[in-house]
Amino acid sequence: MVKGNGITEVLQIVMIKRKLGKSGYQVSEVGFGAWQIGADWGEEVSRESAHEALHAAVDAGVNFIDTADVYGGGRSEEIVGAFLREREEKLYVATKMGRATEEWNAGYDEVARAAEASCERLGVDALDLVQLHCIPEATLRAGQVFESLERVKQRGLIRHYGVSVETIEEGLFCIGNSAAVSLQVIFNIFRQRVISDLLPVAMKQEVGIIARVPLASGLLSGRFAKGHEFSLDDHRNFNCDGQLFNVGETFAGVPFDQGVELAGRVSDLLVDECSEAPLAQKSLRWVLDHQAVSTVIPGAKNARQASENAAVSGIMPLSEKAHSDLRNLYNLQIDCLVRGRY
Ligand SMILES: NC(=O)c1ccc[n+]([C@@H]2O[C@H](COP(=O)([O-])OP(=O)(O)OC[C@H]3O[C@@H](n4cnc5c(N)ncnc54)[C@H](OP(=O)(O)O)[C@@H]3O)[C@@H](O)[C@H]2O)c1
Repeated sequence: MVKGNGITEVLQIVMIKRKLGKSGYQVSEVGFGAWQIGADWGEEVSRESAHEALHAAVDAGVNFIDTADVYGGGRSEEIVGAFLREREEKLYVATKMGRATEEWNAGYDEVARAAEASCERLGVDALDLVQLHCIPEATLRAGQVFESLERVKQRGLIRHYGVSVETIEEGLFCIGNSAAVSLQVIFNIFRQRVISDLLPVAMKQEVGIIARVPLASGLLSGRFAKGHEFSLDDHRNFNCDGQLFNVGETFAGVPFDQGVELAGRVSDLLVDECSEAPLAQKSLRWVLDHQAVSTVIPGAKNARQASENAAVSGIMPLSEKAHSDLRNLYNLQIDCLVRGRY
């Protein structure tokens, strides 16, 4: 950017990297959630906007992208794959498998086929990280899926694997019974139980935490009013009460109108924190203030959201008072409202 007086101002990119468990990867503490550029969030995000959002994120220092084989039936992976070919720096792509069909059986052939298909869509020889995508708890506990993943890893199709889980119990099980390098969990101001029940164990065992749904599907940006109507093809409409999948994935399980009210309370409590920052940034900062988190992956539909989210790495941590106030708010008024598997 050139200032009026002819002096060129160089924008300093601040993006802190953190280690992702025992993977050896140093990932940007703010990543990019790529569900939005697949489907399920209302009007389809054009390929052009998706590329702009991805470029904005990477220009701001993001090197970690979270996608899945089922986002838009492969559209998200394909867009990310095309994007990878436009950039020279090393970018880590985490994808997911295990929800493509009802009968997904976790056997070696099934896991290998899914990995091959994701490699093809992403245009890579091997997946940096593949995560089991909230598969049934019984399948996790049976253990065969981890044997399959190990064999596929030995074949060189995947470099590391992790698990995206719905409940704290599932997370603890994976830490104790698998070689998963990462756990992906719903973690935001509306979902605080993991702070005491999961994060310390993950930290001790060096399992990286990937924080999903950090803005409670947008509620924690504070820009929605009660009664807001989302379009029919937006999961914030068709899954607002868990009609199609775990209600926790939509608004973190908090009923929408109550969530709007609570976002207002959060905003009031944070009014003196990083005063210039919008609530979305403060909410993401809250997630990053937890050391066990390797990366937070807000979903973004456009370049503005992507760069605003990435910039959170450069803002000051919230005060201890703010954390304590938000903890009290959660304990007294939010925990009892959270629906779904937890
Ligand atoms: N089971 C799983 O493994 C699973 C489940 C859910 C999500 N995920 C992953 O986690 C990622 C993040 O979760 P999520 O996308 O569900 O929820 P989220 O990150 O909490 O919310 C994303 C939404 O917040 C709004 N937003 C984003 N940046 C904003 C900003 N700077 N200012 C104002 N609003 C902003 C946008 O809403 P608008 O669309 O209204 O603009 C966006 O669609 C996903 O993209 C996906 O990669 C994984």
